[in-house]
Formats: sequence, structure tokens, C-alpha cells
Amino acid sequence: MAGRGATTTSFASSREYDLTNLPAAIIAKKRDAKSLSEAEIRCFVEGFVEGSVADYQMSAFAMAVLLRGMTFDETAALTLAMLASGERLPRPSDGPPRVDKHSTGGLGDKVSLFLAPLLACQGVHVPMVSGRGLGLSGGTLDKLEAIPGFQCHLSDHHARHQLDEIGCFIVGASERIAPADRRFYALRDVTGTVESIPLITASILSKKLAASLDALVMDVKAGSAAFMKTLDEARSLARSIVLTAQRAGLPTTALITDMDQPLGRAIGNAIEVNETLECLDGAGPKEVIELTLALASELLVRIGSFTDAERARQSLCRSMAAGEVRERFERMIAMQGGQLLGALPLAPSHTIESDIDGWVERIDCETIGRCVVEMGGGRRQTGDSVDPSVGISLRVRIGDSVRRGQPILEVHAKRDWERHAAALATAIEY
Ligand code: URA
Repeated sequence: MAGRGATTTSFASSREYDLTNLPAAIIAKKRDAKSLSEAEIRCFVEGFVEGSVADYQMSAFAMAVLLRGMTFDETAALTLAMLASGERLPRPSDGPPRVDKHSTGGLGDKVSLFLAPLLACQGVHVPMVSGRGLGLSGGTLDKLEAIPGFQCHLSDHHARHQLDEIGCFIVGASERIAPADRRFYALRDVTGTVESIPLITASILSKKLAASLDALVMDVKAGSAAFMKTLDEARSLARSIVLTAQRAGLPTTALITDMDQPLGRAIGNAIEVNETLECLDGAGPKEVIELTLALASELLVRIGSFTDAERARQSLCRSMAAGEVRERFERMIAMQGGQLLGALPLAPSHTIESDIDGWVERIDCETIGRCVVEMGGGRRQTGDSVDPSVGISLRVRIGDSVRRGQPILEVHAKRDWERHAAALATAIEY
């Protein structure tokens, strides 16, 4: 029965819950595996932003969603409510198409650094908002900050001017973009509620929708070093994001890509910028270049610049071969204050060799990522400082044959590397 004081009629389906305490009624309804209306979700998120829904209620809601799930309509309503908590990037009606990519993250993923200038050379705008690394996977902003002087926070005027001038920027999320997600994510992080597909979907899309894009491509990683360990989990997340984005009016495609081994050879911050420089010249690891071309082609077809991915790919390859992409990357770095005079300096290098003959069967990405963090190349807690010169270069990939005494890893570290040498040697499994 509705309690006294329940005056609203928009929550007719919640009549059996005590509406004198609307947040509790909404949490209880989700706890009982019922669908919430758009109005209920919107009120709940608005209450969280204004303070009438307490952090403990939001955390209970997160757990109810994690256990009971959400329909696509509910997920879309949550996404739009979190989007509405902040600002959207203004969008001139006559500007070029605006696109972006989001990756669910993995070891050695430096694709954003390469993709933004690559797409900008095709005449589209790429206002990329990226994050910092925490735990094993590095963040795009940490990689860029390995470049002396690079600024991840731009004034609105600077960002607009840079987009008009060169078609791309890569910045950190401002406090004004989906602030409800920022606070909600912090609660999820400490209440065991990150691993919910609807919540991940709403979190990612609320921030991407704020950029007023014409198309989004998702790189959903599957494998031992990814958030989603199995192909089935990755498919579920991809489907949730694509359908929810469509419902919110953002054309989105998802590629599911391998994260059973690091992407490319370089893992770390400066070392990944150096590998990006090789890729911009077309000389970097094939898997990094191919994945970047595939994601970019998807977007160009989506916005109608090309009729098929092969034509898009050819155009992307032509601008790479002409040196335009490298030049655009250098202009982006310079406009954001970075001084890049060539490859960045790395910490002293130490080689780890194989002690047997064999075929590489598995690469333990967790151990490699953890060693990079512990040698100072990543952060264990928000706010930890990062040594950009620390990193690892992988000399083998799954399926390679290896001889005893052959280098398998090159470690760049100023301290502690001996302590990790044995674990690193066994991270390559035969
Ligand atoms: N990345 C996000 O932005 N949000 C999540 O919930 C998970 C990953």
C-alpha cells in the first residue's frame, strides 16, 4: 500500500512500495527484480545529485542493479539521467562530423594516441575525453603526460580553437561532464558493484553522449588481461552498449578484440608514446596499426564518408604514408603544450632471457602489469605519482618459438627490477 503523503501519480507501478520514502521504494522495486520507469530512474539520479538520495542509498541501488540487471529501456533512462547531471559540448549545426572511440581497456592499449590524429586527417572532428590508469591498465592521459609540458586540461576556448584548427584533442574529463557518474563510480568502486553491465554501459555512454558525437566505436576487449574475461561477457557488454547508445540517438558499433596478450610490444607510459611514433610512420607492431585502422574505418563508414571499410582503410593508409598523420599528431601535442623532439627517454634497460626452448603458449598479463606498477610505472591508488620512463618491451608473442637464452622481455626500471625478474620470466609460459 502507498503510504501517507504519496502524492505523485507517475509511480503507479510502485503502489505496493512505501512511497513516503521514494528512494527506498525504488531500491526495493529493483531488489524485487521489477522494471523501473524512466521517471523513477530520473528522480533517483536527480535526488542523488541534489542530496536527497544518500550515498548509502545509491550504493544499495547499485547492488540491486548488479544482482537483478536492467532492461535496455532502464539502462537508457539511467544513461540519460546521468548525462543530464552535467553539460554537453556545444555543437555547431554546420560543423564536420564528430566521432570518438572508447576502449574497455587493456595492457599496452595506445590506440587513442594514434586514432585521434588519424581520423582528424580525414576531415572529421575527434574531441577525445580520456582517463588515467589505475591498477594494471594504463591511461591515455598518463601516456601523453610522459611528454614534457603536455596539458590534459584545456580551457573551453582553447579546446574549441584546437578542434577547429586541427580536428582533434585528447583531454581529461572535466568536473562538468556527467558529475553524477563521477560520484556514482566512486561508490561502485568501493562497494563491489563495478562489474554490472547496465552500470558500465550507463557510465561509459553518459560521458560519450556529453561530447555530442555523430558516431562512436567501442573496442570491447576480451581475454585474460581484460575487464571481460570471456567472449560471452564481452558480447553482452558490446550488445548492451550498442543498443543503449542507439536508443539514446548515438550510432555506435562495437568491435570485440583480443586481450589475451598485450597490444603491441610496449607496456608503460613513455615507451608506449615511442611505439605510437613508430605506428604513425607505419613501422610499429602490425596488430596496433591494424586495430587502429579497423576502428577508424568503422567510424568513417558509419558517418557515410565511405561506402565500405576497405575504401576507408585505403584513404587512412594514404594519409599515413604521406606523413600527414604524424604531422597532425605532432601539432596536437604542440597545441597542448607538449615538447616532443623524438623518442622519449626510458629508464635503464635489463634483458630477461628464456631459460628453455619452447613455444609461447600464454602470456600472464596480470603479472606483467603488476610489475610495471610496482616498479613505479603505474598507480596503486588514485593520486600516486607515476614514473613515465618505466616500462616493459615484450620480445615475443603467443605462438612464437623461443630458444634458450633468447631475450623475451626488456625491462626499463630505475629500481626493484631484480625483485621482479623471476616473476617476469615466468609470465611467459611455454
Ligand atoms: N569505465 C567507465 O567509464 N565506467 C565503468 O563503469 C567501467 C569502466
